[in-house]
Parts: sequence; structure tokens; C-alpha cells
Amino acid sequence: MLKGKTAVVTGGSRGLGAAIAYRLASMGADLAVVCRSGPEAAEQVCAGCREKYGVSAKAYQCDVADFEAVKKLAALIKADFGTVHILVNNAGITRDGLVLTMKEEDFDRVMEVNLKGAFNMIRHMSGMFLRNREGCIINISSVTGLMGNAGQCNYAAAKAGLIGLTKSVAREFASRGIRCNAVAPGFIATDMTKGQEENPLVGSIPLGRMGEASDVADAVAYLATAGYVTGEVLRVDGGIGM
Ligand code: NAI
Repeated sequence: MLKGKTAVVTGGSRGLGAAIAYRLASMGADLAVVCRSGPEAAEQVCAGCREKYGVSAKAYQCDVADFEAVKKLAALIKADFGTVHILVNNAGITRDGLVLTMKEEDFDRVMEVNLKGAFNMIRHMSGMFLRNREGCIINISSVTGLMGNAGQCNYAAAKAGLIGLTKSVAREFASRGIRCNAVAPGFIATDMTKGQEENPLVGSIPLGRMGEASDVADAVAYLATAGYVTGEVLRVDGGIGM
């Protein structure tokens, strides 16, 4: 279904990003997997995609918060793959704390990675989409960006910002055949949510369980192929955000 397409997945070395990379590879897409540090894990994901699905896959190390580094990354990926058709902005971090005591650097870093990182990627990859007159951008937001969450004002603000970014980019690019959507996961079992199983919020999930990375990958696979959907925010949260 995605044979001949190249997808870039940020934060693809583990968790949701790795599941998304595997899913897109299973649909035939070639893959550029971006991670912040320790390229071994991203390289492992790439090796798995190559072996299991016969696609091309390459790992890249880059801090998505760094505007100039992302510019260089885009040029490298273009040199290696020729072009890009799908961009999944999945890289994200948490630096939780109450608003009254949150350190300035924790607020800034979460905004830089989770929000500006997506902007940097879109800013430097979109030239390729425009030349192709096709492109698909999927931003991994969070249900926290829709509802807010005590102790996560930085994260919620960044993820809500990502929704504004998604809708603005969708409007700017729609006439050029480029779509931009967001996925808003709820509680998904990954490294990021380790130890959260006892969080009282988990007990209030209508479907009664935390999600799996594959639940989010399902949503990304849908948006990657849903040619008439743009500017949408797809909750994958067991109903907690309804
Ligand atoms: P994770 O912590 O397991 O993985 C995060 C990935 O992002 C890693 O590959 C890491 O290398 C990469 N990364 C972090 N900072 C980076 C940077 N500056 N530049 C490049 N890559 C960077 O997290 P998880 O759970 O897989 O989350 C993935 C995305 O989904 C994040 O954006 C997160 O906010 C979002 N999300 C996760 C939820 C969950 O319950 N796990 C719920 C809602 C949203």
C-alpha cells in the first residue's frame, strides 16, 4: 500500500515510534528512523524492518529541537532516499512538575522538543512534499493537549500547540495535495508511562485498560492512507478524552 513511498519517523528507536516504523514498513514504506541518542536502538529497528519486510531503512541521530541540525538531517535523508512522502513527528519528552515549582528550563525543553521539534521537521521536509505535490504529515500529540493534566502544564501546552500547528499546516498545504493530521494517544504502555499503571487516571479509562503501541500504529496507518482526511485530531485513548 505504501510501496515506493519514504517515511520519516522521529523518536523511532523505541516505544510508539518503533511500533509506527514497523507498521509503515509492513505496508511497504522505506524508512528513515530518527532518534536523539544511542543510534544502536534505531539501527536495530531499521534492521528489523529490512529483514522482516524487505524495505530500505536507515537510522539517523538528530536532536529535533535543533533547527540547523534538522536542516542538515533533511538534506541527508534526501541524498539517501531521493525524497520523502510521509513524516511522523513522534519524538517527545516529559519533564513533569507543578506549575508553581516548575523550572524554566523544564518548561523550555519540553516546548523545544515536543512543539518546535515538529515545526523544525515540517519546515525542512516540506520542500520535498511541495515538489512532489503530495505529502502526509502526522503529529503525535496527546489527549493531555486536549484536556490538560495537573503536573504537566509544559507537556499539555506543547501538545495543544501541536494541534494548532497541525490545523494551520493542514490549511496552508491542502491545495498542494499535502495532508496534516494529529493523533492524540491516551495512556499507552511504553517507557514514558512506566510506573503509571497505578495512576488513578488509568482507572477512569472507559475501555478499562492502558493502550498498546500497536493501537497508535493503527491510527497512523489509517491517516497515512486516508486521502480525504486533513486537519483531524484522532484520539486513541480508550475513551478517556471524550
Ligand atoms: P519514549 O520515551 O518511549 O520514546 C521517545 C522517543 O523520542 C525516543 O526514541 C527518543 O529517542 C526520542 N526523542 C526524545 N527527544 C528527542 C529529540 N530531542 N530529538 C529526537 N528524538 C528525540 O516515548 P513514547 O511513549 O514512545 O512516546 C512517543 C510520543 O508519543 C511522544 O511524543 C509522546 O509525548 C507521545 N505520547 C505518548 C503517550 C504514552 O502514553 N506513551 C501518550 C500520549 C502521547
